[in-house]
Amino acid sequence: MRADKRGGDANKQKWMEETVKVFQVEGGWTRENVRIGERPEPLPGPGEVRLKMKAASLNFRDLLVPLKGYGARMKALPLILLSDGVGIVDAIGPEVSAPKLGERVCPLFFQSWSAGPPDEQRLGFSLGSELDGTMAEYMVLPAKGVVPVPDFLSDAEAATLPCAALTAWSAIIKEGCVRPGQKVLVQGTGGVSLFALQFAKLAGAFVIVTSSSDAKLERARELGADATINYKTTPEWGKSARALVGGEGLDHIVEVGGQDTLPQSLRAIRPGGTVSMIGVLSGGMMDVRLGMIVTRHIRLQGITVGSRDDFLAMVRAVECHRLRPEVDRIFAFGELPKAMDFLASGQHFGKLCIEH
Ligand SMILES: NC(=O)c1ccc[n+]([C@@H]2O[C@H](COP(=O)([O-])OP(=O)(O)OC[C@H]3O[C@@H](n4cnc5c(N)ncnc54)[C@H](OP(=O)(O)O)[C@@H]3O)[C@@H](O)[C@H]2O)c1
Repeated sequence: MRADKRGGDANKQKWMEETVKVFQVEGGWTRENVRIGERPEPLPGPGEVRLKMKAASLNFRDLLVPLKGYGARMKALPLILLSDGVGIVDAIGPEVSAPKLGERVCPLFFQSWSAGPPDEQRLGFSLGSELDGTMAEYMVLPAKGVVPVPDFLSDAEAATLPCAALTAWSAIIKEGCVRPGQKVLVQGTGGVSLFALQFAKLAGAFVIVTSSSDAKLERARELGADATINYKTTPEWGKSARALVGGEGLDHIVEVGGQDTLPQSLRAIRPGGTVSMIGVLSGGMMDVRLGMIVTRHIRLQGITVGSRDDFLAMVRAVECHRLRPEVDRIFAFGELPKAMDFLASGQHFGKLCIEH
C-alpha cells in the first residue's frame, strides 16, 4: 500500500487493485468469525479525508458487537471492528479545507453528531457498528468526522479519546456540571470510570472509586482517588460511600454496573443528586424503588458518548491540563482477539490499545 497521493492514468488500474488489511467480522455473528481480511484501498471523495491509522482502543461494546451486533441498524457483514482510534491524514479529497495533510486526528464515535442535543440521526451512525470501524490500515471519513488531537499524547493514548473519554466528559463536565468540593463516586476501574475519575479531579471534586480488586484501588489512589471501596468485600457499598462523605450522600455517581449496582447508587446519592446512567455491566433489567427517585428528587441522566463540539471542548481540557489517559497495555494489530480476551477477563485497569 503506497502512502503518496494519486498517481497518473498508467498506474490507475494497479492502484484500484491494491488492498488494505482490516480486522473484521465476516460471514456471521460469532467471535470465531473475527478475522484479518482485505478490502480495496479506500480513496477520499469530495469532502473526505483518508487516515493512515496508527492506533485503536477497545471498549466493552467491542466484545458484544461480534456476538450479535449492537443495536437495530447494524451494518451488513463484513464489519470492520472497533470504534476508537487515531490516524494521520495522508490523502485529502476535493473541497476539504481542514484537516491538513499530516495532521493527527481521531475519528468521531458518532459520525453525524456535530453539535447540539442528541437525536435519532445524530445517534444513528457510530463506528464499529452502523459503520466500519478503526481496525483498518486506512480509513476514509468525512472531514467533519475527525478531530485533531494534542501532540503530547502517544498514539495509544490519543486512541482512547473518542468513546470512553468523551462519555466520561459528558457525564462529569457537560451534563453533570461537577463543581469544586462536590462528592463523586465512580464504579470500577475500567476505561470510562478512570476518565471520570480524572475529569472529576480536574473539576475539583472529592472522588470515591469502587473496584473488585484492592490492587486496582491502590492504583486508583495513585491516579487521584480520595477514597476507595472494594465492592466485593463491601457489597453494601452505598452505605459506606454515604458514610465516607459525612452521611449527606454523593452529588454525582457514574453508574456502569446497572441492575446490581443501581440500588446501591440510589442509597448513596444525595437528594437532588445525579446518577449518570452509562453502562449495564451486571444486567439491564431490574425492580427499582421509583418513589424514592421522585421523593428524593434524584436525576437519572442517560449518557451516550457526545458530539464533535463536546470532543473539541474535552480536547482543550486534556491539552490544558496535560491529562494522560490510563493505558494498561498495548497489543499488536494481529493480536486483536488476544486483546478482546484480556478485556473480557476484567484484569485491565483503564484502557487496552492496539498499535497498527
Ligand atoms: N453510554 C455510553 O456512551 C457508554 C460509553 C462507553 C461505555 N459504556 C458502557 O459502560 C460500561 C463500562 O465500559 P468500559 O468500556 O469502561 O468497560 P471496561 O473498561 O471493560 O470496564 C469495566 C470495569 O467495570 C467494573 N465492573 C464490572 N462489573 C461491575 C459491577 N457489577 N459493579 C461495579 N463495577 C463493575 C470492573 O472494574 P474492577 O475491575 O475495578 O472491579 C471492570 O473492570 C459498559 O457497560 C459499556 O457498555 C457506555
